[in-house]
Amino acid sequence: MKILLLGAGGFIGANLTERLVRDGRHEITALDIDREKLDDTVKSGELNYIEFDIRKGDEKLEELTKEHDLIVDLVARANPSLYVSNPVDVFRLNFIENLKIADFCVKHKKRLLQFSTCEVYGITAAKANGLSSAEHPQPFIEDETPLIMGPVKNHRWIYACAKQLLERVLHAYGIEYGLNYSIIRPFNFIGPRIDYLPSEQTGNPRVFSHFMNALLYGTPIKLVDGGVNFRAYTYIDDAVDCIVRIIDNPNGCCDRQIFNIGTPENEVTIKQLAHKMIEIFDKHFRKPGDPTPEIINVSSEEFYGKGYEDCDRRIPNVDKARTLLGWKSEHDLDSVLFHTMKYFVDKHRAKQKEAVAV
Ligand code: NAD
Ligand code: UGA
Repeated sequence: MKILLLGAGGFIGANLTERLVRDGRHEITALDIDREKLDDTVKSGELNYIEFDIRKGDEKLEELTKEHDLIVDLVARANPSLYVSNPVDVFRLNFIENLKIADFCVKHKKRLLQFSTCEVYGITAAKANGLSSAEHPQPFIEDETPLIMGPVKNHRWIYACAKQLLERVLHAYGIEYGLNYSIIRPFNFIGPRIDYLPSEQTGNPRVFSHFMNALLYGTPIKLVDGGVNFRAYTYIDDAVDCIVRIIDNPNGCCDRQIFNIGTPENEVTIKQLAHKMIEIFDKHFRKPGDPTPEIINVSSEEFYGKGYEDCDRRIPNVDKARTLLGWKSEHDLDSVLFHTMKYFVDKHRAKQKEAVAV
């Protein structure tokens, strides 16, 4: 099968592309505006890589769609700080530009694998009803759970709304135009190559990178609004294993289906995540002279600016992936964190060594 991966240079894209190239079962074309995370695979000569901005040049995008059997769309702004600082850009890229891809898939009768998000579930029903979601756990089920967003003034939800609307349009395209699609809702994947460390690159990445940065550079660990909200983390290799099964689509079982990919057992509050990362760092990686970060509380307005509202709890129900695809993630939370941290620690130590050698 000929597969076109859009946004292949990102965290999920680079890990997925590498796995598909290694498997060698398909012909892969990878497209992105940034190839840094894919550099080794590009240099190996085993990958057809195209540097291209999907906002510039519909003709080329349509031509590429026509030439492939399956289009995997990973392109998005995917960091919450951007939903607050650049909401219009988030909407334009995550909805308008992504919709073009769906339109080309309809026109040329191609299967589309669309990356959505667990954020489409929004807040829990417990929170919406004034109850504590810590006391009322409610797993999110793909085709059952209502999607509940906060008020418009909290523009953080523009990301979730753009992704949700795209899902609804794909569903409608399926009904009216016969589009064959599968939708993936990732629940907090982490692993090697996620985002970047804020001491090495400007920006405001996702939480793992902030906490890792604190451990390596001694910046404070900031708990936004006390770090009381929950997330359930999935190791990227487990996630990629599930994505590959969805690509393979045995007996068409993924046609017009939405899949949660997540690990409900790996749930923690953000405060617990901070303490766990410190514990793992101290046990496996700490060297004399390494900084010890302090833990401080910051308000969400201070950290993100006005317009932020958090998702209180996201427990994935993964029965569909298990029953249709026989998938279950293998890595528990300690292992997810250990492997991800190791990648960043090794990279950091290699850089330190290089600096000493110069
Ligand atoms: P990422 O930011 O690492 O990857 C996105 C990629 O899209 C980047 O490499 C970026 O350069 C590329 N891109 C952006 N604009 C582009 C353009 N105009 N033309 C071409 N390429 C462009 O994010 P990720 O974590 O790999 O997420 C991939 C997808 O999965 C996104 O759609 C995201 O919303 C979704 N998702 C990810 C997670 C997660 O756990 N990582 C969770 C929920 C949803
Ligand atoms: C992210 C993004 O929206 C998407 O990439 C994706 O849809 C989803 O996760 C996912 O990965 O499944 P979120 O989990 O809110 O959303 O992103 P993080 O920045 O990792 O924040 C997690 C939690 O940590 C939030 O409660 C946030 O307020 C908190 N946080 C973040 C801190 O307490 N300290 C920090 O330094 C950073």
